[in-house]
Amino acid sequence: MDGALQRRIQRYGWDRAADLYERLWAAQLAPAQDRLLVLAALQPGERVLEIACGTGLVTWPAAEAVGPNGHIVATDISERMVERTAAEAAHRRLSQVLCRRMDAESIDEAADAFDVVLCALGLMYVPDVAKALGESQRVLAAGGRLVAAVWGARRGCGWADIFPIVEKRVASEVCPMFFHLGTGDTLAQALGAAGFGHITVERISTTLVYESGDEAADAAFAGGPVAMAYSRFDEATRESARAEYLASIDAYRVDAGYRVPGEFVIARGDKPR
Ligand SMILES: C[S@@+](CC[C@H](N)C(=O)[O-])C[C@H]1O[C@@H](n2cnc3c(N)ncnc32)[C@H](O)[C@@H]1O
Repeated sequence: MDGALQRRIQRYGWDRAADLYERLWAAQLAPAQDRLLVLAALQPGERVLEIACGTGLVTWPAAEAVGPNGHIVATDISERMVERTAAEAAHRRLSQVLCRRMDAESIDEAADAFDVVLCALGLMYVPDVAKALGESQRVLAAGGRLVAAVWGARRGCGWADIFPIVEKRVASEVCPMFFHLGTGDTLAQALGAAGFGHITVERISTTLVYESGDEAADAAFAGGPVAMAYSRFDEATRESARAEYLASIDAYRVDAGYRVPGEFVIARGDKPR
């Protein structure tokens, strides 16, 4: 798929997902975000660039860790996500957090300006990951670190059929490389190719817990990466897609809800001194 089209689908899709995102995804993503923050080991006073910050679920603990003398530039391609995060940062009186709309592939910041780059569950959506990692490397100071979390391999994610279910209804690919970075050692290889050293990778299993079919389907369709396509479906298409998705996760039904297996990969790499 054309990179510009993929960027537009993500940008405006996440604009639509922004208001539902935390309700539908915060608890499910917490294991990956928590581990990313442990691996980042942020210190008071550090300068952090956050890529794909979404609604700020990683931004708030990061801001607490770097403290008032630190600095966080929280960026996302979605205007609505950036607006929400900026409003919440103001509400929390976090003067160390600056929010900016920015594409991961084109970081409008000076070279060597940050100690840490964080990206939680964002790289899967970026058309040119090598370019994004190259940009991260450029803005990191020597000895600085990047920590990124992505979803794992397709076979480890019980909800993976969401993509073919949507794709066949829009007759195009929605997120073609979604599981690529989380498969095998792809993420470590990508970090190495971008010039990072001392690379460590962790793969963790998780369970996505939904109390009802509606909650599972809302999370998959309205609160995430296929939100743009879903917003354009008519009512009958929505109903058939939701039914097909619930059938695809039926093996994970427990009482009225679902316990769907998932997998995250979290990697850290250092910019050489
Ligand atoms: C699953 S959310 C993750 C948000 C947040 N990091 C978290 O852990 O909750 C993915 C985010 O990636 C952003 N995104 C998608 N493509 C992007 C790109 N090319 N550059 C920057 N952000 C992007 C989306 O707008 C969305 O906010």
